[in-house]
Parts: sequence; C-alpha cells; structure tokens
Amino acid sequence: MSTRARPGNSELRAQSSKLEASPALRLRRDVVRSIRAGHPWIYAEALVPPPELLPPGAVVEVVDFAGRFLARGLWDPGSAIAIRVFTLDPDEVLDEALVRSRFLAAAERRAPILAGGGTDSCRLVHGEADRLPGVVCDRYAAVAVLRFDGDAAASLRPWVAAVAASLPGIGTVVERPFARCREEGQARVLHGTRPSTPIVIRENGLSFEVDVLQGHKTGLYLDQRDNRALVRSLAAGRRTLDLFSYVGGFTVAAAAGGAGPSLSIDISKPALAAARRNLALNDFAFEDRELLVADVFDWLESPASRRRTWDLIVLDPPSLAPNRAAVRRAVGAYRRLNAAALRLAAPRATILTCSCSSHVDEPLFRRTVLAAATDARRRVEVVESRGASPDHPVVGWFPEGNYLKALLLRAGGASNPGGGRARRSDLPLRR
Ligand SMILES: C[S@@+](CC[C@H](N)C(=O)[O-])C[C@H]1O[C@@H](n2cnc3c(N)ncnc32)[C@H](O)[C@@H]1O
Repeated sequence: MSTRARPGNSELRAQSSKLEASPALRLRRDVVRSIRAGHPWIYAEALVPPPELLPPGAVVEVVDFAGRFLARGLWDPGSAIAIRVFTLDPDEVLDEALVRSRFLAAAERRAPILAGGGTDSCRLVHGEADRLPGVVCDRYAAVAVLRFDGDAAASLRPWVAAVAASLPGIGTVVERPFARCREEGQARVLHGTRPSTPIVIRENGLSFEVDVLQGHKTGLYLDQRDNRALVRSLAAGRRTLDLFSYVGGFTVAAAAGGAGPSLSIDISKPALAAARRNLALNDFAFEDRELLVADVFDWLESPASRRRTWDLIVLDPPSLAPNRAAVRRAVGAYRRLNAAALRLAAPRATILTCSCSSHVDEPLFRRTVLAAATDARRRVEVVESRGASPDHPVVGWFPEGNYLKALLLRAGGASNPGGGRARRSDLPLRR
C-alpha cells in the first residue's frame, strides 16, 4: 500500500499533482468504522505504530489491519489531530485540482446567499463540512479572508489563495492566524493590496464596518446572520437588550426592525465604538440607544441591571467551554447567566440565547436554559431551536461542526413569584 510524501510549501507552488510515495500508516481497529463513515480527523494515538517523522502537510495514506486502503489525508505532527482526511477513494489524488474543485463547489453552494445584492459577505468554505478539512474562507465584499487550522491545512495555502483570488469580484486575499494562535501572528496579505480597514460590507441591506485584519474571528460573526434577521423581524416597538453585543450586529438589526430603546453591552471598547459607527452608517439615531462598555457578568449582578426590564433580549456570550474538561463549569456559567438575564425579561418577552461552545450540545444547552428558567422562577417556552446560518453547514460526518446553538424563548409570567429556596443560579455569576 503506498503513501505519498507532501511537497513543502514552496514546492507546492511549483508542483501541483506529482507526489512521492512513502510508507502507509495503519489505523487502530476501533477507529476504522468512524473513518469509513467519513469522519475527517485521525488522532495520533489511533495510529499503530506511531509513524516516523514526517513533515507537516505530508500526503499520507492510511490502511486497515489487513493493509487495505482506508483514507488519504494530510499529516500534521504539531496537532493532536495527526491526519486530516481528504478522501476515502483510493483513486482520488490529493492535488491542486481537487482543492480547487472542492473550493469552487463550496463557493457555488453559497451563491444564493450573495444573489440579490442585499448581502455581499458570507462564509465560502467551512472546512470539514465542505471537505476541505481545516480550511476556512470568508468573503467580505471584495476581500477573501483565509484561516488554516494547523500546519496540514496551511500547507495548502498557495492553492487555496490562488483559487480565492480567482473568484469574480475578489481583489484581496488575506490570511488570519487561526484563533488558538492569534497572538502568534498578524494577518498577512496573500494577494492584492493591503485593505485599508475597516471596510464596509452589506448584510441583508444593512451596512457594517469590518476589520478584516484584526476583528474577532475573520472580522464579523457571519454565523449569526440569519439570527440577526430573525431579531430584526421580531423587534418592532420592543425594548431591546443586546448582551455581548460585539460591533452591534443584533443592535443594528433590531433598530432596522423598529426596536424601541436599546442597551448593548460588551467588554470591548473598540467593539462598542464600531457599534456606534454601525448605527450611524445605517442612519439610526443614538438617543435611546445606549452602548455600555462593561463586563456582562458583573453588570448582571449589579443593582443597575435591575432598574429596567426588556421585551427582547439577545444573549450571545463567547465560548465558555474551550475543551471537554471545561463543560461542567461552562454549564454552570450558562445556567447562572441565563437565569440572571431571564430575571430582566418583561412579561411575554422574547429571548434569543446562544452558545457557541461545540462541547455543549443542543440537548444539554436546552436543559441548562430550562433549568435557568426554573431558577429565575419564570415560565419559558422554547419557540425554536436554531443554529448557524447555512453558509456554516452541519454535516452528518462531522458532528463537531454543530457548534452554534440559538434557542428562541418566549417568557411567560412568574412560575412561583417571590417563593422558593435559593437556587443554584442565585449564586454569584462567576464561581
Ligand atoms: C460571540 S461574540 C458576540 C457576537 C455578536 N453577538 C454578533 O452577532 O456580532 C462574544 C462577545 O462577547 C464579548 N465578551 C467576552 N467576555 C465578555 C464579558 N465578560 N462581558 C462582556 N462582553 C464580553 C466579546 O468582546 C465578544 O464581542
């Protein structure tokens, strides 16, 4: 059974499809089934024996115990995920043509989002779900922003940058360091001229500033686009509280839907300065639209938070469970956070509560939110369970991709007004 050694990055540029042979890697018996089912990650400990030193980005073939071909992928010695699988077809070559055709097919699937002119920005390639494991490409108007999760995916940089640059309307291709290593590097321009940031993009007819070089993620939380549209449709006349607002995406959407007074809170001063500019960009007046730089956990515990109630609340915290070990603690934090927010909900209020922790799945998040409602002594109905916008697809072979949960709640009255013992969520928000 043959395996192929990858060319280095510079070689990738020169040679696109001629790859040399190297020894095959054998997979532990208990992992074979999940790889055959299409899961694209092989952990180092699943290989027997552990492979010899291979360079990052080496194209490797994996075989089962009988030596039969299982998969072909890219090697990453620096990651717990040692191999990102690209194909289960022994005849499919992992070369520039394959990367290009998968990229273009993914971009084509997003064409309906960009058709019509109201939206010029979305995710074009969503890694594993688009069968380009570890590769992300977001489009912000004329700028394509790439992110590579690990050295294996990064070895595809020249091919991915070339296809991104070839898309109609794209003038600049930027690479952002992957989130986990943000501090290790700056954004760099791979094609075109360095954009003078922020640039202005359009989402459902609204304008937003985006800092493609330094903003969170690749600039904007594109995954919340459809949820912002939902909030817009629900906002008319409603007093709106946008917690963890970032650059005011939900705040601006609510304003566009005719919201009443609003309060937006984020810990980041630059984010709220951008929120102010985003309101101005869309000609929304500032009176009755308060922007507060504060720690939401502290604010919810402060007497100031109890002075008002709200008809529409958006709760979109950062990921609270960066790994499996943190899930228990994160669930406690979600519970206290949601209970505190629900105490501020007016009768018949609508709440959109979100979790972007991939380790907290939907059933667990739902149970946690409902427990929080009990703690807050509020009757709550789950109206809808939502996820990320469809340019961040969730596929059966990669359940880890289902990271964003958004529950739309309708609050009733008090379930036990003033009564009951102290609940778990009566504890300080930070424990
Ligand atoms: C998931 S993002 C929110 C995205 C936003 N809703 C949108 O649609 O663009 C989480 C935000 O929480 C903010 N944040 C993190 N910790 C915070 C804290 N303790 N208090 C307030 N904001 C916080 C971050 O600055 C970030 O803007």
